[in-house]
Formats: sequence, structure tokens, C-alpha cells
Amino acid sequence: MAVKVREHWGSKIGVVLATAGNAVGLGNLLRFPSKVALYGGGAFIVPYLISLTLLGLPLMWVEWMAGRYGGIRGHGSTVGILGVITRGNVLARLLGIFGVAAPILIVFYYIYIESWTLGFALHSLFGKMPTPVATTETSEALKPFTEFLKNYTAPSLEAYIIFWITLFLNWIVLHRGIRRGIELAAKVGMPALFLMGIMLMVVIFTSSGHNPEWSAIKGLEYIWKPNFSRIFDGKVWVEAAGQIFFTLSLGMGAIAVYASYVKEDEDIVLTGLATTSINEFVEVIIGSAIAIPAAFLFFGPESIRELAEAGTFRLGFMSMPAVLISLPLGFFWSFLWFMLLFIAAFTSSIALIQPMIAFLEDELNISHGRAVSISMITVIIGAHLAIFIPGYIDELDFWAGSFMLIFFGILEIIFFVWLFGPNNFIDELNKGASIKVPKWVAYITGTITLAFLIFILVIWLAQNLSVMINQKGTGIWLARITIIVFVLILAALTVATTKRNSD
Ligand code: PHE
Repeated sequence: MAVKVREHWGSKIGVVLATAGNAVGLGNLLRFPSKVALYGGGAFIVPYLISLTLLGLPLMWVEWMAGRYGGIRGHGSTVGILGVITRGNVLARLLGIFGVAAPILIVFYYIYIESWTLGFALHSLFGKMPTPVATTETSEALKPFTEFLKNYTAPSLEAYIIFWITLFLNWIVLHRGIRRGIELAAKVGMPALFLMGIMLMVVIFTSSGHNPEWSAIKGLEYIWKPNFSRIFDGKVWVEAAGQIFFTLSLGMGAIAVYASYVKEDEDIVLTGLATTSINEFVEVIIGSAIAIPAAFLFFGPESIRELAEAGTFRLGFMSMPAVLISLPLGFFWSFLWFMLLFIAAFTSSIALIQPMIAFLEDELNISHGRAVSISMITVIIGAHLAIFIPGYIDELDFWAGSFMLIFFGILEIIFFVWLFGPNNFIDELNKGASIKVPKWVAYITGTITLAFLIFILVIWLAQNLSVMINQKGTGIWLARITIIVFVLILAALTVATTKRNSD
């Protein structure tokens, strides 16, 4: 079959910004600070940094290599890429379904939370947020904000309308395609994101709270103070590795699909490194210097754990507006915070949907417009289940947001390093690179990274499987049924198109 002409990114800086936009998301600004606070600083940071080096960077390169290799040959989804490297093996293609299903299942809830950030940004802009209570008693101070979030996400009619606006914004950008849509959004969004993040950091570090003993710097100390007490706790390792996967968008075909739109001579060694570094800058520097220090400044050391334990949302949607609105020009800072979250989430949700678009276009030869419509309608249906059915989100997050990523990470190494061949992997990665990656990196990836991933998967299964399997409830079952039905449909389409695409 003749290779279809696929779209390419417009410029080198466009590739970097688009992929950085893909990786930088709610994971950096909400999930990271919560996890780091929950596991008490150093206890989390050590496994985190080890996971970054042993899992993050190697897998990032694996996905860049696989994506470019597949893209040149007309395939951007992991179904197609695995087909290309195995000359159309149907089992390999079927395994590639993880890289289409996982991101779409994640976007079912991700996009809803993204719409809250837009809603809260608009509320802040129009001065329609609750008034903070001047007290250092955390739960008192947060009460109006807790109520506000509860009423908003009930869901209110307003939340529902803003959710549709968010859907359409995603739809429009994806419809405009790689260069005029995704790349343009990242070129506008990413610089704005850096600027806003840095402004918020400055504001928090130059403000004073209610108690002279508390300062933002102490908040940073709290996060970064070495603490080795839980270094042998498997759960911390699983969480740290899971955070690396989530924040770098790895193990779900989302990086590979963006990589499939680069030109043949693109320096992917450097671009992969740039994506990782930008993401880590936003996570470790900006992500740890906003939400936690702000809470520390206003509510003191005792509150941090409590806030973090109450989940990712409490810190971002309650404590942050409570702090920011108390400052001079408060509504503006609160607006900036939620816009920052919105931009970060937006450039990630489009990346979560693109693998399915590429699957439909490349494997089924469906036109771009139609592929976008089918994907968006899938998202709309799934997101409605996530919004209205209790328990649905948690179950999806459990399978798609944790299990599938680690499992697929293992498969990626088996296929793209071992079956493709460690030498081929490095040669292919180094094509067009100004600084070459040495061969031993392939062997480290194939052995240590792989062993580490298997270890993480085993602990994860030991900890979670029996608890989760025994869970009951309509939402849980509906989530499982959705996953199975969706995977079966993708499997049927994959099998049906295998012959055609390998000719
Ligand atoms: N990396 C994104 C975040 O940190 C989430 C994401 C995962 C986006 C996978 C795209 C693909 O929020």
C-alpha cells in the first residue's frame, strides 16, 4: 500500500513546545505537589529522581524512536507502529491497543477537571469567588471554598455548560490538525504558562501570611528536606514511578504519536531530552513552589499533610484560591492560577485524544475531519459517564491511569528494544542526532529499566489487585464494561485492518 502523506510539525521549536505541552499538565501542578507532600518530601523525591533517570528518560527515547520510525512509514498510533516493526503481526498490533485505549479512557475524566479550571478562572476574573475568612484554622478558612467546589461540581448547570465549551475548544484545535491546531496552541500557550507560573511563584514568595513563623521558604524546606524513613516502602516506589509515567505522558502512546509527525531528519535525542527537561522544570521548580508554599504560608506546617491527604483537588481548588484571594489584587492571582491550570490541562487533553485520531486516520483510512468527530463523540459519551456516575472515575483511573501505563511500558521495551534489536534501537534513535546516545543505554533500558518496571508492576498488583477486584457498585461495573467494550471494538478494527496495512 502506498504510504499516505502525513502532516508534519512546522518548526523545531514547535515540536518541542507541542510535546512539552503534551507532558506538562495537571500532573505537574496538582498531582506532583500532593504526592510529594503526602509522602513527606525526601522519602518521595529519592525514588522519584531514580525513576526519572531509570524509567523516564529511557522510555521517552524509546517512544520518540518508535514514533518517528512508524510515522515515516505512515503509522502514528501504537497499533500501527507495532505492526510496522513486526511486519504486520496481528498479536503485536492488538497489544498496541493499550496505546489508544488508555489515553482516551484517561481523557474521560481529565477533560472534566480541565473544564473546572476554566470555570474557576472565569469566576475569578469576574470576582465571583467566595470571600476568604481571615483565620489560620485551615478547615474554617477553606469552608466557603469547599462548599463552592461541591456546588460547582454537583454538577451545576454552569459547570455543565463550561464542560461543553471545553469540549468544543479541544475539538476545534484537533480539527485544525497538527500544525495549525496543536502546534499553534502550544506556541501560544506554553510561553504564557511559563510566565504565569513564574509570576505566581514571585507573588507567593514575596507575600507574608498571618503568622511570622510561617514562610513560603519553609514550605519548600518541608518538601525538600531529606527523609529516608519510607525508602524501603514499596508503595512509595510505585507512586513515584507512577508519577513519572503520568507526568511525562509515557506508556500510553501519547509521546509516540506526537513523535510520528516529525520529519525524518529531526534530532529526536535532543527533542526527547528537551521534553523531559521542560516537564521536570515545570514540575520540580514551578510545581513545588506554588501550591505547597502557599498553603504553608497561610495555614502553617500542620495543615500540609491534612491538605495533601484530602486529595489533589483540595490543594488546587480550595487552598490556592483561599490564599490568593486574600492577597492584594487577589482575584487576579486566582484567575492567573486557574488559567495556568487550564492551559496546562488543555495542551495535555488534546494529546490524550490524538492517539485515537491517528489510529482512525492511519489504520482505517478515515478522513481527518471524521476521525476527529468520531474521537470527540467517544470522549463526550465517556465523559458523561464519568461526570454522572459515582465511582466511575476511580475505577478508570485505576486501570487506565496506573495499570495500563506500567504494563504498556514493559511491552514497549520488549518490542522496541529487544525485538527490534538493541543496536537497531540505538542506530534509529541516533539518526539525525548531533549528540549520539551510546550503545550501553540500550542495554540498560532493556535490562535495568525493564526489571525495575516489572518490580513496580508486581508490587502494584500485590497491593491493589485483590482490593480492587472485590469492589462493588454500579459505577465500578460500568467502568469495567466500558473498558472491555471499547477494547473489543478497537480489537475488531485492528484485526480487520491488519492485512490491508501490512500489504
Ligand atoms: N502528562 C500529563 C500531565 O502531567 C497527562 C498526560 C498523560 C497527557 C498522557 C497526555 C498523555 O498532566
